[in-house]
Amino acid sequence: MGTEAFDAGLAGVVVAETRLSEVEGEVGRLIIAGDDAEALAGVIPFEEVLRRLLAAAGAAPPSAAEIGAGLGRARVAAFAARGFLEAGSRAASGAAAVRASVATLEAEDGGSDPVGDAIRIAAAVGVAAAAFARRRGGGSPVAPDPSASHAADVLRAARGSSPSPEEAAGLDGYLVTVSDHGMNASTFTARVVASTGTDLVSAVVAAVGALKGPLHGGAPGPVLDMLEAVGTPDRARAWLEAELGAGRRIMGMGHRIYRARDPRAAILERLARSLRSAEVDERIAIARAVEREAEALLAARKPDRPLKANVEFFTAVLLDALGLHRDAFTAMFAAGRVAGWCAHVIEQRATGRLVRPASRYLGPMPATPSA
Ligand code: COA
Repeated sequence: MGTEAFDAGLAGVVVAETRLSEVEGEVGRLIIAGDDAEALAGVIPFEEVLRRLLAAAGAAPPSAAEIGAGLGRARVAAFAARGFLEAGSRAASGAAAVRASVATLEAEDGGSDPVGDAIRIAAAVGVAAAAFARRRGGGSPVAPDPSASHAADVLRAARGSSPSPEEAAGLDGYLVTVSDHGMNASTFTARVVASTGTDLVSAVVAAVGALKGPLHGGAPGPVLDMLEAVGTPDRARAWLEAELGAGRRIMGMGHRIYRARDPRAAILERLARSLRSAEVDERIAIARAVEREAEALLAARKPDRPLKANVEFFTAVLLDALGLHRDAFTAMFAAGRVAGWCAHVIEQRATGRLVRPASRYLGPMPATPSA
């Protein structure tokens, strides 16, 4: 058996050098392409964060306006592409629908137009996510409007009705907030796949598969179920005690890197409040009560391990307030994170290095042949 260091979760293992984002877990800070996430969400649109990430990865993207026009054209193309929407129509979950639809896209020709490929795939993920949300809401997919902003058009297609400027800004801020986040599991997946020299479609399909898991991007739907089950702030403690007593984890709490509150929780809470709805404010009050009680109960159980609200907690509140079906939350996460995946693929390709770690063999050895 080898004596090399081993950590089953690769915690603390640096597997890439990146200019895309930095997660400072101890203080709860997220930097995306040189700026605090707080300073980006609600300030720059998704088109601009995609531009910044692609530029930081070493590509030469055009202006945000040109990226916006490209996303619009690519949404129309994805919507019309043969088999694209059909592939997602039978999926059991939003992430599965995105995975199936994106898998029908033509693989690009070896990365000769990385910016064009990124725009094409980012647009396609938004279209697939919106179509799934729309179907879950009981309607048929709505054709894209290439002249709208990416967030406004995805939200309109997801709901079948035009969003208010505040609602469009809410989804835009969400997509920017989740656009990149260090070496999370789906981003690592995208980089490993890209390191083999394969195409962006393959890397993104694999990344969506990783995002789908409940320990990564699959938690916001269950968070909403929890907030509804709790119902009123005064019932939070008893509900959470029963849940923990049954050996279940509290969804939306805890993080591999953050030991402080996930900074994205505050951003998404701010975006939800900016919708100025009494109903949403009431939901935020329940969420805050659940968060407070969960934090206290988890601190009592795990005094050495701070377990605080993560991004999924207020994702549930915000995306529900925007009128999106809960089954589509993870698909919307993909619609934002695809920006980071595409940029990481470009950055990884530039290293030219295959990611190929080692394992420690625990199985039997062949019997030594007798001399
Ligand atoms: N509820 C209850 N207990 C939790 C918990 C939660 N949400 N998160 C972690 N813990 C406990 C674990 O049971 C474990 O206890 P143990 O040592 O007695 O087994 C301890 O805290 C450490 O957890 P671990 O699974 O080693 O941490 P991790 O870094 O691997 O996991 C998460 C991070 C996010 C996977 C984990 O906190 C989790 O499952 N959270 C709920 C799902 C979620 O919100 N996912 C979205 C992530 S953005």
